[in-house]
Amino acid sequence: MQTQIPERIKKVSLKEIQSQLARSPSLPSLGSINKALQNLLVMEQRYTAQIAEIIRRDPSLTARLLRLVNSVYYGLTNPVNSIEEAVFYLGVREIRQLVVVTPVIEDFQRLARQCDFPWREFWQHCIGTALLTREITSAVQPPGDEAEYVAGLVHDIGKLVMAWAFPDHFAEIHRQAAETKRDLIEIENEILGMDHAELGALYLERHRLPEMMIKTARFHHQPEKADKFERVVASAQIADLLLRSEKIGCSGNYAEVTREQCMAASGWKVLLTDTQEMERVIVQASLSHKLQAIPRMLEGLV
Ligand SMILES: [Fe+2]
Ligand SMILES: [Fe+2]
Repeated sequence: MQTQIPERIKKVSLKEIQSQLARSPSLPSLGSINKALQNLLVMEQRYTAQIAEIIRRDPSLTARLLRLVNSVYYGLTNPVNSIEEAVFYLGVREIRQLVVVTPVIEDFQRLARQCDFPWREFWQHCIGTALLTREITSAVQPPGDEAEYVAGLVHDIGKLVMAWAFPDHFAEIHRQAAETKRDLIEIENEILGMDHAELGALYLERHRLPEMMIKTARFHHQPEKADKFERVVASAQIADLLLRSEKIGCSGNYAEVTREQCMAASGWKVLLTDTQEMERVIVQASLSHKLQAIPRMLEGLV
């Protein structure tokens, strides 16, 4: 089913897209992420008290941390009020991810403000994808820093960029997506002439952000086409599908995704060879487990 596109909304050319992107604000948090990650890696060797000291300097991070720990450990008789205690409960890895996510979300919010969209559920989709991308990649390759997490976090950045650069197109696309439940990529190509994956990649390229983020944004709906970082890209595809199939958060893509589709995703072929059937079963089982824990974590984060 295709609905009528209002007269004033026309496809835009690549040139118009480029000129809009030239004016797009950068996300300072993404630019500084590499440095932040390095500081955080050093942080791991420090004591809880010192980690707490760093967190305390940032009020929005402090608030988010306490909210997170209290929602994850919902059963605690006394709510956690001190940062030291929160660090103890959550562990350094969770803290690192939280430190990365906080400024990114705040920047994202500034970029998206003008459009009507379930943004809170969208951040949940992004953070959930980040968590699962990291989980999937670390099951098939030795764990690195948090770069995969960040790549997952920004996989759908093209939607934000679209909301900022082409708000009328964005509104029409999402009106149709909700109404028809057709695949979002198709609708975006029909109405704007470009989908969010390509738009996001162009944006990240323009702002000279790391290649892993660019490849993840560009190929997360077709990881078999990625020529680099293909495992991270494949993990982001699977993560995105799993969250959509479980209806966790909102990606703005309302086309139904079944569990079977997740398990048959093209990304699995990128991650594991046909002979690694056993590994696949193990990874999928551990993912199901992780998925159950995600909604509560997300409640605490955004
Ligand atoms: Fe996407
Ligand atoms: Fe997504």
